[in-house]
Order: sequence, then structure tokens, then C-alpha cells
Amino acid sequence: MPLRFKIPIFDVKNLNFIVNGQKILSNISLEIFHSEYIAIIGPNGGGKTTLVRMLLGLEKPTNGSVKIFGKKIKNFKDWNKIGFVPQRAAQVDQNFPATALDIVKMGRISKRKLFSSESEEDIQAVNDAMIKMDILDLKEKMVGTLSGGQRQRVMIARALASQPEILILDEPNTGVDTVSQNRFYALLSKLNKEDKITIVFITHDIGVIADDIGRLFTINQKATICNNPKEALSCEDMSALYGISAHLVHNHKHEH
Ligand SMILES: Nc1ncnc2c1ncn2[C@@H]1O[C@H](COP(=O)(O)OP(=O)(O)O)[C@@H](O)[C@H]1O
Ligand SMILES: [Mg+2]
Repeated sequence: MPLRFKIPIFDVKNLNFIVNGQKILSNISLEIFHSEYIAIIGPNGGGKTTLVRMLLGLEKPTNGSVKIFGKKIKNFKDWNKIGFVPQRAAQVDQNFPATALDIVKMGRISKRKLFSSESEEDIQAVNDAMIKMDILDLKEKMVGTLSGGQRQRVMIARALASQPEILILDEPNTGVDTVSQNRFYALLSKLNKEDKITIVFITHDIGVIADDIGRLFTINQKATICNNPKEALSCEDMSALYGISAHLVHNHKHEH
């Protein structure tokens, strides 16, 4: 396991989430370490987004604990260390009144003091994030006029602008064409390998990213943790999980 630090970024123990007597998440325990690349997969409605909301303190578990960088979630303050791109973040209205640059700048808000103006550091961080996501040329474009793939990169640049240690992406590939997706995977892989940013990639699409990921968590109310994703993607458990033939599963390849 690629451990840089012993304290996990996320340490989840025996997490349960029950709503109106219905079990949404059942006894989930997992750890996410610095510089890992993890995919969380599972069928729609399996509880992936709910789990992420608990990791981010947006929803309270019925019982169980979440620690971030060794701290109980209620004592954790460094939220700018965590970059989050929510599901459907890239689906903005065509007339949304902001440029790509405006959107990426929003990623600095939590770092800035209230009412203070932009610092050199803010400008630099925004610029770096745009370079990393390869969107400098889109700076002045209205975000609503961009393609799905371009908008996706803008949203990730916004998350990167706060210079996070971990990037959590909830189904970012929805509605994006294959060419854009491959380019996007290559960018994520680079962030992980070169910048050592921890990546948690959530998807219901099992035919993706197998080449890059280190570990795979499948979530369908319960979590199954797999340290060898390539094996997992061809194993029978997958077809049981999705109710489809495992032959549908193929490993995604892309040029680096
Ligand atoms: N606060 C809540 N109240 C009631 N039901 C919820 C709540 N949060 C999640 N759910 C339910 O939990 C299930 C899992 O949803 P979700 O986490 O969005 O799955 P996924 O992201 O894997 O598609 C769904 O049936 C959803 O309706
Ligand atoms: Mg979801």
C-alpha cells in the first residue's frame, strides 16, 4: 500500500446510516491514505454519494465514526485540504453568468479572509490549477458555453485552487464524451503521480480507470475493499453486484 504517512486522511469505523428504518449504509469501515488513488464503485442508489457526504461532515451517521487527518470530524477545521467535486457539478445553465476564471476563483474563497481582496498567492493558485487542468485558453469564456468535458475540467480546477491534499470526485464523467474522458483520466493520473494528490473517484461505470487505480471500494449498502482492482473487475462478485454479465467489464486504457 502506498503509505506516506501513517495517519490516514480518512478513517471510517463501523459507520451505519439508517433512515426511516431503511439501512442506507451498513457497517462501513475503511481508510484512505495519502497519495492513494481509490475508485469507489457501485450501482445507482448503492450509497456512494451518502458515504461521501458523511466523509465531508454534510450528513451525520446514525452511528460509527469518521476521522479526518486523525481528528474527529467535529474538530476538523482544515476543509481547504479537501477538494470536492459534487455529482452534476458540471451541469450548469447555458446562461450562467460567470467565466471559467470566475468559477476557478471561487475555489479560493475559503482561503481568503472575509472582504479581503485577492492576494498574489490567490492569483498564483488559480493560475496553477488552470494550467494543471489545461484550461488557460478558456479563461474568459462563459462557462455555460463550454463543452461537457471542458466544464468538467473547470470544476476540478476550482477544487484544485484551494491546493487540497485530496480530491474527491463524485461521478464526474457523467455526460462527457469518450475522448474528453480519456484526456481527463490522464490529467487525474498526473495529479496523483506527480503532485501526490490523493484521489477518490466515484463512479457507477465499471469499465473505467482500472489501469490507474490502486484500490477499489465497492459500495452497495456494505463496502468491499479490494487491493487488486484488475482482479476485482473480472471477478464474479462484480456481476453479482451489478446483476450483469462480467464479460461487459473491460479495462480502460489511455495514452499518458
Ligand atoms: N437523507 C436521506 N434521507 C432519505 N434517504 C436518503 C438520504 N440520503 C440518502 N438516501 C437514500 O440512500 C440511497 C443511496 O443513495 P446515494 O447515496 O445517492 O446512492 P449512489 O450515490 O450510490 O447512487 C438512495 O436510496 C437514497 O434515496
Ligand atoms: Mg451518487
